[in-house]
Amino acid sequence: MVTMDQSAELLALAVSVARSASDLAARMRADGVAAVATKSTATDVVTAADRAVEQFVRDALREARPDDAVLGEEYGGGRDGARVRWILDPIDGTVNYLYGLPQYAVSLAAEVDGVVEAGVVRNAATGREWTATRGGGAFAGDARLAVSGETDLGQALVGTGFGYAAPRRLHQAQVLAGLIGHIRDIRRFGAASIDLCLVAEGTLDAYYEQGLNPWDHAAGGLIAAEAGALVTGLDGAPPGPDMLVAAPPALHGQLHDRLSALGAAEGP
Ligand code: IPD
Ligand code: CA
Repeated sequence: MVTMDQSAELLALAVSVARSASDLAARMRADGVAAVATKSTATDVVTAADRAVEQFVRDALREARPDDAVLGEEYGGGRDGARVRWILDPIDGTVNYLYGLPQYAVSLAAEVDGVVEAGVVRNAATGREWTATRGGGAFAGDARLAVSGETDLGQALVGTGFGYAAPRRLHQAQVLAGLIGHIRDIRRFGAASIDLCLVAEGTLDAYYEQGLNPWDHAAGGLIAAEAGALVTGLDGAPPGPDMLVAAPPALHGQLHDRLSALGAAEGP
């Protein structure tokens, strides 16, 4: 059981660390992107900033809460028997970071006993920041967030993303080809955590993606859910690597059923 005070305390730490971390990312961007290496494929890049920002956040969390575990995109991590585990994407939207497109974020969530209780997503290029605690609502600054009121999938602006491996991308493109005639339009901004926050504030009606990792959606998923979105997988599954669908209740079933019929969670 986590009290609202405990969630608020975890969020306050997350916000303070994410602000300094995003300042570091922005400073390193201004100094020029350095030391690009590749990970899963030739287009899955990691910069010196991804690693430096992750290390900064790990150090700050260890200093403040030495007994907690951290799972981060660049350096991994286990649970180590800890009740509290932080889930971190130091730079979500690394390709945007590389190109200087202003859509990249520090995403940091605090999970207690396996449940995400607090999360912050901070766009390091613009300073926009979205937060939530479980049961306490979602906010951008002081403004409480609510999902869009759209009820017709045919009128919905839908965000999505693509993985880095060609076979996966081809499958995702086929699913999109089956969907795009049934929605208003598609957006691909390139940072899953921000996409989820856009659903939370209603500037996207809905979002789905196959292949997300916990650090892509832990914070943004809570923010979207606290703003009123249903955040699920397909066919009763929880949101995870096979599929994440985030949409207001009135749209969720329509989008879910289309994606399920298109086999969106299947394939490579
Ligand atoms: C990626 C972004 C992108 C999504 C990919 C993610 P990264 O994260 O969130 O929008 O489509 O699935 O891997 O590599 O920039 O941290
Ligand atoms: Ca990343």
